[in-house]
Amino acid sequence: MAPAESEQHPRKALALAAHDASGRVTPIRISRRDTGDDDVAIQILYCGICHSDLHTIKNEWRNAIYPVIAGHEIAGLVTEVGKNVQKFSVGDKVGVGCMVNTCQSCESCNEGLENYCSKIIFTYNSRDRDGTVTCGGYSDMVVVNENFVIRFPDSMPLDKGAPLLCAGITVYTPMKYHGLNEPGKHIGVLGLGGLGHVAVKFAKAFGMRVTVISTSPDKKEEAMERLGADAFVVSSDANQMKSAMGTMHGIINTASASVSMYPYLGLLKPQGKMILLGLPEKPLQISAFALVGGGKTLAGSCMGSIRDTQEMIDFAAEHGLTADIELVGAEDVNWAMERLAKGEVRYRFVIDVGNTLVAA
Ligand SMILES: NC(=O)c1ccc[n+]([C@@H]2O[C@H](COP(=O)([O-])OP(=O)(O)OC[C@H]3O[C@@H](n4cnc5c(N)ncnc54)[C@H](OP(=O)(O)O)[C@@H]3O)[C@@H](O)[C@H]2O)c1
Ligand SMILES: [Zn+2]
Ligand SMILES: [Zn+2]
Repeated sequence: MAPAESEQHPRKALALAAHDASGRVTPIRISRRDTGDDDVAIQILYCGICHSDLHTIKNEWRNAIYPVIAGHEIAGLVTEVGKNVQKFSVGDKVGVGCMVNTCQSCESCNEGLENYCSKIIFTYNSRDRDGTVTCGGYSDMVVVNENFVIRFPDSMPLDKGAPLLCAGITVYTPMKYHGLNEPGKHIGVLGLGGLGHVAVKFAKAFGMRVTVISTSPDKKEEAMERLGADAFVVSSDANQMKSAMGTMHGIINTASASVSMYPYLGLLKPQGKMILLGLPEKPLQISAFALVGGGKTLAGSCMGSIRDTQEMIDFAAEHGLTADIELVGAEDVNWAMERLAKGEVRYRFVIDVGNTLVAA
């Protein structure tokens, strides 16, 4: 069933929907479910624009269920709670990230790694339990099971904090689980976009040495002066790449396009780890020798659990860590998407939903 207006879900909401692989979004009215006993209804004030939204609305992953209402960096205020809800009250500052439900009983769920549940229901473009398709945060409200809602710390702003709900947790998780959060270790951040720029900030908060590896020489000054990176390597510059060879304990790879792994694996120390986060639609190019020779690890990582997301945002608040954002109105989302596709964002677009997504 399409996510647009249905009789099954009587509550109306406004949204921005993509209708085909052109990826252009236009306003639409959708239906949301009523607030169930375990649910929290949220007035959405801000929603980040993740590159995964762009991949999805353009059907680059060949899984779009149109109309697609993207958005999984949702921040807003609780407007209603179901009768069983324990953790939240009306008026609370909250967020929703990439998932809105899982089976809550499989091995992954029991281990607190529900982001790897095979029955995961993503925040958008995913089949919900009632057969409808989930609609994300490019919308003025959402209803979510309380177990998948994150509490915003008091000091965390909703606009600059919203991107932490995907970009933040996606980089925090592999750092935590692969020992790439230890003071003094040297980490490379490949790709300085939405994920990459918060990876630099988390790595600095962990006390690490950070080198940005980028295709964009013009990002150097900001990377070092504003974001706090210790070094900046332009990947097309053979001399710069050579001088960084064999120096890194790990690389957080956020490149959104398919790139040759060979030169980047060379930057790792023996037994270093390359963690893939980027999800280009085309296969990666990799030489076995580049991996086997130095006993290196190539791993992937997908989002993070709810427990880790709460831990991450609390840690970010303690360290005054937020995303660098460009706030855009609902009417400018198509323009923002074009700039995101060209890699022109510094460093995350956030939609000012509360002030600009209003009925005409
Ligand atoms: N694993 C997960 O759970 C997860 C979660 C969220 C997003 N993602 C994926 O992660 C990727 C990045 O997301 P994002 O929102 O951070 O995107 P973004 O803001 O567009 O940043 C991606 C960065 O990749 C670099 N890049 C682009 N084309 C490149 C190329 N041809 N070669 C090398 N580097 C290139 C650019 O950095 P420079 O200009 O510095 O080179 C660009 O800023 C996307 O594929 C997204 O779908 C995965
Ligand atoms: Zn995302
Ligand atoms: Zn499960």
